[in-house]
Amino acid sequence: MCGIVGYIGQQQASPIIIDGLRRLEYRGYDSAGICTLENGELQIYRAEGKLINLENILRETPATGSRGIGHTRWATHGKPSEINAHPHKAGDFVVVHNGIIENYLKLKEMLQAAGHNFSSETDTEIIAHLVEENYKGSGDFETAVRKTLNEVQGAYAVAIICRQEPDKLIAAKLGSPLVVGQGQGEYFVASDIPAMLSHTREMIFLEDGEMVVFTEQEMRFTDLAGDELQKQSKTITWSPLMAEKGGYKHFMLKEIYEQPRAVADTIAGRLQAEEGDIYLEDIGLSDEQLQQLDKIFIIACGTSWHAGLVGKFYIEKLARVPVEIDIASEFRYRDPIVGENSLTVLISQSGETADTLAGLREAKGKGGKTLCVCNVVDSSIARESDGVIYTHAGPEIGVASTKAFTTQLVALYQLALKLGRVRGLLTADQCREQVEALLTLPRKLEEALEIDGHVEEISREFMNARDFLYLGRGNQYPIALEGALKLKEISYIHAEGYPAGEMKHGPIALIDEQLPVVVLVPRNDTYEKVVSNLEEVKARGGKVIAVVSGDDSELIDKVDAIIRVPEINDDLMPLLTSIPMQLLAYHVAVFKGTDVDQPRNLAKSVTVE
Ligand code: AGP
Repeated sequence: MCGIVGYIGQQQASPIIIDGLRRLEYRGYDSAGICTLENGELQIYRAEGKLINLENILRETPATGSRGIGHTRWATHGKPSEINAHPHKAGDFVVVHNGIIENYLKLKEMLQAAGHNFSSETDTEIIAHLVEENYKGSGDFETAVRKTLNEVQGAYAVAIICRQEPDKLIAAKLGSPLVVGQGQGEYFVASDIPAMLSHTREMIFLEDGEMVVFTEQEMRFTDLAGDELQKQSKTITWSPLMAEKGGYKHFMLKEIYEQPRAVADTIAGRLQAEEGDIYLEDIGLSDEQLQQLDKIFIIACGTSWHAGLVGKFYIEKLARVPVEIDIASEFRYRDPIVGENSLTVLISQSGETADTLAGLREAKGKGGKTLCVCNVVDSSIARESDGVIYTHAGPEIGVASTKAFTTQLVALYQLALKLGRVRGLLTADQCREQVEALLTLPRKLEEALEIDGHVEEISREFMNARDFLYLGRGNQYPIALEGALKLKEISYIHAEGYPAGEMKHGPIALIDEQLPVVVLVPRNDTYEKVVSNLEEVKARGGKVIAVVSGDDSELIDKVDAIIRVPEINDDLMPLLTSIPMQLLAYHVAVFKGTDVDQPRNLAKSVTVE
């Protein structure tokens, strides 16, 4: 979720770029940089931390020139640092990038063999070197860029300038957002509309596989084969604040809709389909260490703890390692039996949750190995763990966690597959089959999001309930807990998640016509049992909202509302049933008029015990 801003025109580029990057700060970042070009001189300045650090440098040594590119980096490969900050340069070519280059290691080896030296840990730097290499063959900037874009795999939004052809600025998009702004005799390009809104409202949205070549006089659009494209501009009427949310009413809704991309980015580069294996770049543990594990602890808080409950199913099923799961604030006070062959997995979106950090230190103090699943590169928990599996959800602004949760499930699934392979429980073919299923997730999530309007109608009907009950079995029980947490933390309605089979041991006393009961009942091996639990609720006058999979029509006459999610293998179904949980909570909260993104009493990261 990095921020890109580029400019070419008559004005000084630097102030325009810095102002644009400031308007993209909501995207979250950990370093920033700029490159301008004047009189054949490339002027590059970069700084770790907040934009003000870069501005302080520019105050001392201004970046001059009427064309340039700038960047705020949300680290996905390589720690936040000046050396890893964009722009990255190779020879006379400078690039800023948002996305993940999946084949960067192979390209890096090829370029090193051709004599290229690298200075950063990033995947982005290979783009600059590849353009430089391809320029040698063609002597033409546009041709070199197009050849490069045909060679890289993964997701990118890039802006590139070069010293040899100072009258050009080239940008391109595949998978990561990029928007063109058309001014009077000047052009802008940025990751998102807010960066340019103060200069122009005429925007052109690049599609995947498209590139644009800017000069001061014109902009020319082509595809990656070089064929010219005609693009229409759109007039944006949004306010700047609306634009920060991408036109969505709340960051939470935007982040719910970002899940297909976030999941795709978390999968990218880790699935080795040919070998039928998983590549976890920063796992920090050798195959031998993974083979010797005799116990796995999973500790986390809140939504991350719910992800851990699903992760337990994955690891015990695919790797047959016993998993103990704890709420972090409990783990640290129960004197857990942690040995040198145990692995403690910490799950944390922020990487700063005090209870989880304390649990990490408890496990390390007892000699155990530690691994974190985290969404913030170089955060405290990530730094102190022996290894890390980063989720690539991008910054999560809404306090209620959504895309971080589903990408945590992907990361835990990848860990379980890795353990299963290393410990000889999964053959390459079996792993390949699971990998194929993982690759269908982004599209299935897109499909699941189509229920939004229907869920909004259901939310309207049940918004005045005082209590909700959520029921699920097996790996759907954690989703029942997650649905209840989502609802209570943003709508302030009391809600409880319960194992469906346990409902008769007490909570059934709560059932009456005032109590909406959300039942997660996708087709799986406990389907019939959950249906009978659902019928017990109906028999006592309860209102049932059933979440079913595929075209299941058995329950239509038995329940008060049905929400459908697409079919997928049972392991991955929790990711799809999470979508209606998020949307139900969101719409009820909107109808109740609560502060969806910043609910009362809550903080995005609880850094106190
Ligand atoms: C989830 O919607 C809440 N915001 C909260 O429960 C959160 O999951 C918990 O505080 C853990 O945060 P972390 O993942 O950053 O450690």
